[in-house]
Amino acid sequence: MAHVPAEDQLEHIAAAIDEIATADVQRLEQLRTSLLGRKAGALTHVLRSIPALDAEQRRTVGRRANELKHAIESAITARERTLAAAVGTGPAVDRTMPGRRRWRGARHPITQVVDEICGIFRELGFSRIMGPEAETEEYNFTKLNIPLDHPAADMQDTFYLKPGVVLRTHTSPVQARTMERYAPPIRVVVPGLAYRRDPFDPSHAPVFDQIEGLVVDEGVSFVDFKAAIDFFAKRFFSADTAVRFRPSYFPFTEPSAEVDAQCQNCRGTGCSTCKQTGWMEIMGAGMVHPAVFEACGIDSERYTGYAFGMGPARIAMVRYGIPDIRMFFDNDMRFLDQFLE
Ligand code: DAH
Repeated sequence: MAHVPAEDQLEHIAAAIDEIATADVQRLEQLRTSLLGRKAGALTHVLRSIPALDAEQRRTVGRRANELKHAIESAITARERTLAAAVGTGPAVDRTMPGRRRWRGARHPITQVVDEICGIFRELGFSRIMGPEAETEEYNFTKLNIPLDHPAADMQDTFYLKPGVVLRTHTSPVQARTMERYAPPIRVVVPGLAYRRDPFDPSHAPVFDQIEGLVVDEGVSFVDFKAAIDFFAKRFFSADTAVRFRPSYFPFTEPSAEVDAQCQNCRGTGCSTCKQTGWMEIMGAGMVHPAVFEACGIDSERYTGYAFGMGPARIAMVRYGIPDIRMFFDNDMRFLDQFLE
């Protein structure tokens, strides 16, 4: 370096001061050594060369070199303080390390569908209520006009908790509890779990969601029911989704119907999802049977009503094209991630 004039060396050193303010621990040590180091420090070198300079240079170079020395020392001290504060007293923290991914929670897709369905019925004036999952045979069967020796009671392959007490096989017993507890007019939807001794397969699960609906008032007719379900299907699926009502049988309704919505996959032309029919079944329903009214203390001469029961998992499968109900139970994040809200 001897051939470089001392003034130029000082300018070079001054240029390095800025870097001190952003240096990490390692780099700060390097800068300290390369500037102030006893053996090879650039500033040390200049200071040592001063005695050999002529009188005029000795003064200017000496003053400037001392200024820089103080500036460097105070910059290093300041940077050390900042780094120490960031690190604390613990081990060094690598602040450049990428953040860890955190899982963000969301409602299960079936819960989302249940909430959405109840929200649509809310617009029609339905309240959302709940009932017990452990239920007596009386409410699960008898009050719904299903005698215990009736095939309908067998039809529902039942989990018994103890004699007379079952895991409810449907949400319909909440109809009876509601009619006993509240006077008409009644408009409720009842989401909840139901249990049947079915093995898991692509379209069955031993525990599944249902939503029960019940309307009781003077002058309620099947037309009111059709209007409500048509509104629901158009709101939930799409404005051009048609529904149809097929005659059916349930002990607790007369007449009874099964309701189909146009297949969301082929829009009614027929595909493998709808077994070429163009329709997907979405619920069982009917006009409340007078025997059920009587069992629940409601005057069947004065009041009429309709009831329906649907499976939100089934409806979610129709809507999203999900081929296997078991996907709702696997909790595979690759599946659930598609339903983040
Ligand atoms: N409880 C029936 C089932 O689980 C579904 C059902 C059918 C509910 C007709 C109703 C109804 O309220 O009116 O299969």
